[in-house]
Amino acid sequence: MRDPVEGGLPHGGRLQQVACDYGIALGDWLDLSTGIAPWPFELPPIPLRAWACLPETGDGLHAAACGYYGVSQLLPVAGSQAAIQLLPRLREHSRVGVLSPCYAEHAHAWHQAGHQVIEITDAEVEAQLPGLDVLVVVNPNNPTGRLCRREQLLAWHAVLAERGGWLLVDEAFIDITPELSLAAESERDGLIVLRSFGKFFGLAGARLGCVLAATPLLQALADRLGPWTINGPTRTVAAHCFADIAAQQQQRERALQASQRLAQLLAAHGLAPKGGCALFQWWQGAQAAALHDFFARRGVLLRLFAGDSSLRVGLPADEAQWQRLAGVLKEWVDE
Ligand SMILES: Cc1ncc(COP(=O)(O)O)c(C=O)c1O
Repeated sequence: MRDPVEGGLPHGGRLQQVACDYGIALGDWLDLSTGIAPWPFELPPIPLRAWACLPETGDGLHAAACGYYGVSQLLPVAGSQAAIQLLPRLREHSRVGVLSPCYAEHAHAWHQAGHQVIEITDAEVEAQLPGLDVLVVVNPNNPTGRLCRREQLLAWHAVLAERGGWLLVDEAFIDITPELSLAAESERDGLIVLRSFGKFFGLAGARLGCVLAATPLLQALADRLGPWTINGPTRTVAAHCFADIAAQQQQRERALQASQRLAQLLAAHGLAPKGGCALFQWWQGAQAAALHDFFARRGVLLRLFAGDSSLRVGLPADEAQWQRLAGVLKEWVDE
């Protein structure tokens, strides 16, 4: 039975529903529908007190997160999604540009909070910027993988900040290329950087994200969220992962290799990706819906974006998964 209050926009990773729709047992699927790294970090032992006591902020999570992101302050939230939904509530009625297509929750949240939202393409930013109060950029973008240069983003930020505007940069997929992040600039007024813990560390169920911004904005968010937003076990796990530099290096290397291999595999089967980043590849073409269905009938789940007829393909975790994906691709070509 489905949770009666589950709802919202479509996302990758909703395997239970798909398993039902296609009549294939849950355990028989290869889920490539998300951009979550398929190699979850090892979990440290979780002390009983992490479950039994109310979490305290001086427990090391903040320091470990600041060290990892290279900042002196941030606000941990229960997934960057929590910040995506709350940030629009902190502004008076605004004109909000969302660089699109991108993660659909951004436009949705600003819209729901009563703001005027316009979805714009990269090419339209310069022309639209003078009329905007807020610009939202997912970087690298999900699902297209498009990357904006730091200098470009900072130039847009300067224009917006001059009149009390915001540049909101969602860096959910940037951990593999941290040199491209705006984290180090995030104390500038009007610049907000969102980071997601779940994707790079492969632990999306922990529900953790971090907001990097100037103190007054972090304070306003914290006031709205109230105490204990991150549960004790997640705090323990995240503090451990943020400090494990060797595992981070290994994760970066294997994601980069897998992403390249995925692009080559798709291209070898006539499906050369149009974009992508270290955690997924993105393909666009008239047959996206047919491909999605063809793969799903064989128990391989891709993420379909029906609106622009495109597919996002996540990384296989191991050789058996690579072989399975390659097998279905071959079948597609043969048919
Ligand atoms: C671009 C982007 N930002 C933010 C999120 C939210 O992630 P989380 O709440 O797990 O940090 C997602 C989830 O897929 C995403 O794709």
